[in-house]
Parts: sequence; C-alpha cells; structure tokens
Amino acid sequence: MKIALFISLMLAAFNSLADDVTAGRAKADVACALCHGPHGVATLPNAPNLAGQQALYLSEQLKSYRGGQRQNAVMGVIAKPLTDAEIAQLAAWYSAIKVTVELP
Ligand code: HEC
Repeated sequence: MKIALFISLMLAAFNSLADDVTAGRAKADVACALCHGPHGVATLPNAPNLAGQQALYLSEQLKSYRGGQRQNAVMGVIAKPLTDAEIAQLAAWYSAIKVTVELP
C-alpha cells in the first residue's frame, strides 16, 4: 500500500515535470528563442546560452531580473510579466536540454 502511494507520487512528480518542460518550451518558442535560440543555444551574439543550465540558477536569474536586483534593459522588460509558474516552466525546459562538452 505504502509502495503504491510512493510510486503514484513519483509518477505525479514526473508527469508534472514533463508538463512543465512542454509548457516551458511553448513559452520559450514565442518569447525567448529569438535571442537564446530555439534550443537554448544563443543566436544573438551578446545573449548567453541557456541549454543545459541548472534550473535553480535559471529561475533565480529570472526572478532577479523581474525584481530589479539584476539589471539589464532587455531582460528586465522580458522578465517583468513572468509569473513564478512560468519561470518554473521555462527553467524546466532549458535545464532539460542535454548538452555535451567537447574540449578544443
Ligand atoms: C531580445 C533578446 C532576448 C530575448 C527575447 C530574451 N532574452 Fe534572455 N537574455 C538576453 C541578453 C542580452 C541577456 C544577457 C543580459 C545580462 O547581461 O544580464 C539575457 C540573459 C538571460 C538570462 C541570464 C543567463 C545567465 O547566464 O545568467 C536568462 C536566464 C534569460 N536571459 C532567460 C530568458 C528567457 C526565459 C526568455 C524568454 C521568456 C528570454 N531570456 C528572452 C536577451 C534576450
């Protein structure tokens, strides 16, 4: 019984993360891809790559832009209307992208 409950809780957590990734991707396609690239590898020369970045770091940065603790003319405007839920979704999407590293 306890195991069944544990498994269903794990599945619920997994499904909600998958939902966040899907919702985050849809939002990013519209609002972020122009500069950060469709897969989180920046297309604008002065924008950072977001693919594979830690979810915690991404959400902290977005909240800092939103609250004005981190100042940037572009990101300040973009982060302003984001809700905590949207930030969690965007962070889930970019952190779910797998990156590989190749040394020079
Ligand atoms: C018009 C171009 C543009 C758009 C659109 C844009 N960004 Fe950015 N983003 C930037 C630039 C430029 C920076 C670097 C800002 C700085 O120096 O702080 C940045 C920085 C960031 C950072 C900080 C990354 C780090 O390494 O610290 C995050 C996170 C981020 N953007 C997320 C997003 C998300 C999520 C969206 C969509 C909701 C988005 N951005 C849309 C241009 C853009």
